[in-house]
Amino acid sequence: MRFSFFILSLCLCAFAKETDSFITAEEYAQHLYKNPRGICCDKCHGSKGEGMVIANYLHKGKKRVLKTESIKQLSLEQFKAALEEKRGLMPKYFLTSSEVKTLYSYLHAPKE
Ligand code: HEC
Repeated sequence: MRFSFFILSLCLCAFAKETDSFITAEEYAQHLYKNPRGICCDKCHGSKGEGMVIANYLHKGKKRVLKTESIKQLSLEQFKAALEEKRGLMPKYFLTSSEVKTLYSYLHAPKE
């Protein structure tokens, strides 16, 4: 009984490998944007890269706003360069070029 269960799970694994993906390219892109390496782009750039207020805070008694501008208008080259260079606040992700392309196409996909 236990052995046949083992065989069954082996088959399932093989099947998973063969079909290659349980999710569509769009779903993959969305997951990547929302949770790459455990830190989410959408938390700082908005759900579709439109930019957002990250925080309001006081600095030397003055109200300050920490926010991002839209990242939708960047070319793929600019987008790539921004992800590769060292940034102030933004985490560095070490994304592969295919991940960068996936993220870029996610931001430029027509709205559902
Ligand atoms: C902790 C907040 C934070 C997270 C998370 C974050 N970013 Fe950023 N990002 C920023 C801030 C702030 C800037 C602009 C200032 C700077 O350089 O730090 C920026 C800049 C950028 C720029 C360049 C914008 C320009 O006009 O040059 C791109 C592109 C970008 N982020 C994409 C991403 C992507 C894609 C992800 C997810 C993989 C991501 N960011 C995650 C905060 C964040």
